[in-house]
Amino acid sequence: MDEKLIDGRAIGNIIREEIKERVQNLKNKGCTPGLAVIIVGDDPASHTYVKNKQKSSVEAGMKSELIQLAATVSEQEILERIAQLNDDDTIHGILVQLPLPKHIDENRVILAIDSAKDVDGFHPVNVGKMIIGQNAYLSCTPYGIIKLLERTNTQIKGKHAVIIGRSNIVGKPMGQLLLQRDATVTYCHSRTKDLAHHTKQADILIVAIGMAKFIKADHVKEGAVVIDVGMNRDENGKLCGDVDFDDVKEKSSLITPVPGGVGPMTITMLLKNTLLSAERVCVSGKHEDK
Ligand code: GUN
Repeated sequence: MDEKLIDGRAIGNIIREEIKERVQNLKNKGCTPGLAVIIVGDDPASHTYVKNKQKSSVEAGMKSELIQLAATVSEQEILERIAQLNDDDTIHGILVQLPLPKHIDENRVILAIDSAKDVDGFHPVNVGKMIIGQNAYLSCTPYGIIKLLERTNTQIKGKHAVIIGRSNIVGKPMGQLLLQRDATVTYCHSRTKDLAHHTKQADILIVAIGMAKFIKADHVKEGAVVIDVGMNRDENGKLCGDVDFDDVKEKSSLITPVPGGVGPMTITMLLKNTLLSAERVCVSGKHEDK
C-alpha cells in the first residue's frame, strides 16, 4: 500500500457497504430506494457513466429505472417524463445525464426536477441551500472529495484550498463546501494570470480543468494534498487526470490517482443522496412503497 495514495475505490467501497446496510434497513420496512436516470442521445461516454450508475445502484440494493430517449426528443417530452417521475412514489432520486442535445435547455430541465428528488444537487434550490449552509443535496463530485479529505484525516480548517475550475457541477460547489469547513478558498480558472503563483500556495489543491497531465511539480507546494478531478486520455490512449501524477506525487503528501481516485466517489455520493431521499420519505411516511 502506498501511503501517499488516496484510494477512492477502497474508500468508496467502505461507504457503499454502509449505504447497502441502510438500504436493507429501509427494505425491511417496506421501502425500496429508487433511482431513475434519463439519458438522451447516444454519446458513448454518457452511456458508460449511466451504466455504471445503474449497476452501482442495483448493487446497493436499490431499484433502478433507465429512460433512454433519442437525441431528437423534444424538450416537452423530457419535461413530461420528469413530471411523471416527480409523481412516482417508488422513485426517490431523478438524474438527467448531462450534456443534453443543443436544442434542449438544460436549465429548464434541471428546474423541472422536484428538488426533493434532485440527487445530483443541480437544482437551484439545492445549490442555494448549500451556499447558505442549509440541509441540501450536494453535488456528487465535490461531496465525494469532502469525504475523501475526511476519511484521510486531512485537516481543512484554516488551510488554503485552491480550486482550478469554476463549473457549476464541480468548481463552484467545491469552494463553498470547503469554505463551510473553514478553509481559505481561492478559485482559479482559464483566465487566471500566473496560475502557478496561486497553486503553489495551496495546502489543498483541487484540479478540474479537463486537460491531460496539465499540473506539474512546479505548480505544487511541498506537502500539498492534491485532488485530481480530471478524466482524460493521454497520448497512448491511457486514462489520465489533469495532474501529471508521476511528476507531482513525490512533492505531495497525499494524491488521488486517475482512475481510482475521485471517480468512484462521485457515484458513491449519488447512492448516498438517493438513500438520504428514501430515508426522509420513509421516515416521514409521505410516500410508502406498496
Ligand atoms: N455529466 C457529467 N457529470 C455528470 C453528473 O455528475 N451528473 C449528471 N447528471 N450528468 C453529468
